[in-house]
Amino acid sequence: MRVLSGIQPSGKLHIGNYFGMMKPAIELQEQGETYLFIANYHALTSVSDPDQLRRDTLDVALDFLACGLDSEKTVFYRQSDVPEVTELSWLLSIVTPMGLLERCHSYKDKIAKGIAPSHALFSYPVLMAADILAVQSTVVPVGKDQKQHVEVTRDIAIKFNNQYGEVFTIPEPSIREEVAVVPGIDGQKMSKSYDNHIELFGARKATKKRVMRVVTDSTPLEDPKNPESCNVFALYKLFASEAELQEMANKYRGGGYGYGDAKKALHDAITSYFEPFRAKREALEQDLDYVESVLVRGAEKARATAHKTLTAARQAMGLE
Ligand code: ADP
Ligand code: TRP
Repeated sequence: MRVLSGIQPSGKLHIGNYFGMMKPAIELQEQGETYLFIANYHALTSVSDPDQLRRDTLDVALDFLACGLDSEKTVFYRQSDVPEVTELSWLLSIVTPMGLLERCHSYKDKIAKGIAPSHALFSYPVLMAADILAVQSTVVPVGKDQKQHVEVTRDIAIKFNNQYGEVFTIPEPSIREEVAVVPGIDGQKMSKSYDNHIELFGARKATKKRVMRVVTDSTPLEDPKNPESCNVFALYKLFASEAELQEMANKYRGGGYGYGDAKKALHDAITSYFEPFRAKREALEQDLDYVESVLVRGAEKARATAHKTLTAARQAMGLE
């Protein structure tokens, strides 16, 4: 099994990103050969400020390393440090029918949101196919929104192999259906675009303020409350042990336990869960040369793999 996934550097990561994407990706490093990259070529389709892109790219690197990514086990790199990917994306675009890209929801959704309809935005799935096929990955863990892009990748790879010979491994998407959607402080899906998120490494005061603003109903303090319909409880579930959860559920049902108390317990749980990661992040911030060296080493390994694939594709097509 060779696993590959990528994340765009576009803004501060939050608790929804952590439980939905980072934690599962980090856990995969125990199961097989894992490649994880920061998709900064892709982010260029929505981030136009160069300093911001640099900052966001570094933030993602720091966040993953702080949260437990082990660079001995995972090949961790910046997409733009592996230029083989862009050459491969041209070769793949030769066998990519326009209709395949025209059907992609993500392109239509982004345009509907007001992102300029550039050629890069349209051909985004071909670049994503190149990321995946360059390292001959077999499994691609993604959220539901990216499933279609992995299917496009499969179609492109099959078409290429049929036309030019067996060069690419056909990857399977692994859809994280089992990861529940983490609610934001207003109860909708947590997302930076709804501004209802709690940042992973936000200022301590800001985190507390956000937790205290989690929306609850108006059941009076002394009355019994239903934990299962409460946003505070839903968030607490992510952090608490079975016993702690049971204890809070009993307090809800018993009455005389206010939402303010539950929020305080939630805040304590968030703080103690992320405290060790925060300390690690602060240490890494003091050692950016180390962070850079991890990414450079990761890129060397990814390039070695991508180079082999690219050479095979070039030969198959008659460029060599
Ligand atoms: P945002 O909605 O904040 O812009 P992204 O769309 O950039 O987040 O998501 C990056 C990754 O984090 C994706 O893999 C996505 O599935 C996951 N993710 C984002 N928000 C949540 C959430 N509320 N619950 C679970 N997973 C999430
Ligand atoms: N398109 C993905 C997203 O927006 C990021 C990404 C780029 C990716 N290339 C990839 C994910 C290859 C998995 C595999 O979330």
